[in-house]
Amino acid sequence: MKFFIDTANLAQIKEAHELGVLDGVTTNPTLMAKEGITGQDNVIAHYKAICEITDGDVSAEVIATTYDEIIVEGEALAKLHERIVVKVPMIKDGVRAIKYFTSKGIKTNCTLVFSAGQALLAAKAGATYVSPFIGRLDDISTDGLQLIEDIRLIYDNYGYETQILAASVRHAMHIINCAKLGSDVITGPLSAITALLKHPLTDNGLAQFLADHAKAAGK
Ligand code: E4P
Repeated sequence: MKFFIDTANLAQIKEAHELGVLDGVTTNPTLMAKEGITGQDNVIAHYKAICEITDGDVSAEVIATTYDEIIVEGEALAKLHERIVVKVPMIKDGVRAIKYFTSKGIKTNCTLVFSAGQALLAAKAGATYVSPFIGRLDDISTDGLQLIEDIRLIYDNYGYETQILAASVRHAMHIINCAKLGSDVITGPLSAITALLKHPLTDNGLAQFLADHAKAAGK
């Protein structure tokens, strides 16, 4: 399973990359705004900076919501770097645009997906990735993980190659459960990824090993 980090924070992207487990980055307009990145030139420079850190795919979201405008914006984003994936919302014009981008060999990430039907449309349009937002479903008392299971079943039934990118991942158990369900990718905050490191028996065991080593060495 691939690990993407869901942030526009360069320090966190570097930290995840240096850990050696980072396969890509997802961003969205909210995450860019959170880092204070505003204005087209700054946004473009920031995407390029992210692409310099990671070896993997970098999702850059279009702001446009009409077909013609999505095409213009998406093609410009795709030209920024070979690792840019054009992130397109799950709307009618977005699905049409994904079909167009696919025909041109431009990678896409269909975002804001909350149902199996939407994921089926994204796959039929040829999206490279589909992003079901599992945390936001959990927030409204709907089982986000069930959606991952449903999409996995549907894609496997027909051999769709669109990769399931479980998004809006909030914590370590989301990651583990997505792995159990066969999600191709997860994207979440650095805290969810590093939480996978933690186990009290690891900490206690290491402290004991070091203490015993020091005792044996007469320290
Ligand atoms: C996905 O690509 C989105 O950027 C993201 O995962 C949304 O997460 P949130 O629900 O925590 O904002």
